[in-house]
Amino acid sequence: MRPMTDDLLDAARAVRERAYAPYSGFQVGAAILGAGGAIYVGCNVENVAYPEGTCAEAGAIAAMIAAGETRIREVAVIADSPDPVPPCGGCRQKLAEFADGDVTVTLATTGGATLVTRVAALLPGAFGTGHMASSGT
Ligand code: THU
Repeated sequence: MRPMTDDLLDAARAVRERAYAPYSGFQVGAAILGAGGAIYVGCNVENVAYPEGTCAEAGAIAAMIAAGETRIREVAVIADSPDPVPPCGGCRQKLAEFADGDVTVTLATTGGATLVTRVAALLPGAFGTGHMASSGT
């Protein structure tokens, strides 16, 4: 694993401890390396009105945007699951908003398993601005 990836995993592991997940009991941590070199973290924050809960990735993206950064260079996500947990569909779209397709996403378990993938592999056929161009009809 690259040194920066290890730093991202450490950051994701640490913030996961602060996840608020009393309903699912499933704590998730995410860390994003911004283009400027800073690391942004997020954890899932659930709500008694279940749909109002937010994912770890969304929290990390919000922290990045709040800090004035708009481009993602690398991502790491960690959870206590049998296999590295893939981001949900909505978070794949959220990541694709700020990351090029070749950006590395490392998915990890607290037990030490990792799966390395890329934004484009997580969201093939992504909806993008080009799809909003008028066809002229
Ligand atoms: N969750 C995340 O935070 N990120 C993921 O990639 C998968 C799912 C959260 C949402 C919810 O709080 C809990 O995990 C169970 O779905």
